Amino acid sequence: MRKPIIAGNWKMNKTRDEAINFALGVSGRLPNYAECIVCAPFIILRDLVKRVPTNLAVGAQNMDYHDSGAFTGEVSPLMLKDTEVTHVIIGHSERRAYYNETDESVNLKVKKALEYDLVPIVCVGEVLAEREAGKTNEVLARQINEGFKDVNLDNPENLVVAYEPVWAIGTGKNASSEIAEEACKFIRTELEKIFGNKANDIRILYGGSVKPENIKEYMANPDVDGALVGGASLKVDSFVALCNYKD
Ligand code: PGA
Repeated sequence: MRKPIIAGNWKMNKTRDEAINFALGVSGRLPNYAECIVCAPFIILRDLVKRVPTNLAVGAQNMDYHDSGAFTGEVSPLMLKDTEVTHVIIGHSERRAYYNETDESVNLKVKKALEYDLVPIVCVGEVLAEREAGKTNEVLARQINEGFKDVNLDNPENLVVAYEPVWAIGTGKNASSEIAEEACKFIRTELEKIFGNKANDIRILYGGSVKPENIKEYMANPDVDGALVGGASLKVDSFVALCNYKD
C-alpha cells in the first residue's frame, strides 16, 4: 500500500512570520493517513522545521547538485540537510521554463538528493502544445528516462514523482481526473522499465490547480497517490482541507 502524500508548494510566497503562523495554524488538524509536506523558500526552512507539528514534513523547492563550491546564489544538498528538511522538489516546470532546468540537471539533482537521504519530488509534465500535438507520452517518457538515468534506488518510498501538466499549473484549468490517471499510470509503466517491481511502491502525485473541491476525484484513481498543490496550499484552512481529503 502506498501512503498518500499531500504536498504544498509555496513557491516564492510567505515571509518567516507568515510561515510560522501557518505551522501553528495547521497544528493538530492534519490526518495520519496521508504524509503532509510543505515545500518552502530556502530562507525560512530552518525556522519552519523547528515549528511544524510532527506530522508535517518540510521540503525545499530546488537545490544545486554540487556539494559546495563557487556557485554564487546556489544552495547545496548539504545545506538542506543542515536545515533538517526531508524533501526537495526537483525539476518543477517553473524552473524548467525560467531557470534553465534540463533533464540532465534533474538527473544530477535526483542522484545527489538520494545520496544525501533527501526525498526528491520530481516533476514531469507536458506543455499545452505538446498535448495538442499528441506528444504527451513521448515527453513524459523522455523526462522519466533521462531524469532517472543510472539512478540507484534502494528504497522506492524515498522517491516521489509528480505529474504536473504545465497547462494546468496556476491556471485554474485542472486536468480531468481521467487525464491525471492516464498519465500517472503511464509514468508508472515507464518507472517499471527502469526500477522493475519497485515502481509499485513509488508515489506518483498529480499537480495543477488542485483544490479542496476537486482533490477527492484525483485521489480516487488507482495510480494517483497524492497531490502537489501550489495556490491552494497557501492558506491554513485550504491546506488542512486538502490533507483531510477523505473526510
Ligand atoms: P497550482 O500549482 O496548484 O497553483 O496549479 C501547482 C504546482 O506548481 O506545483
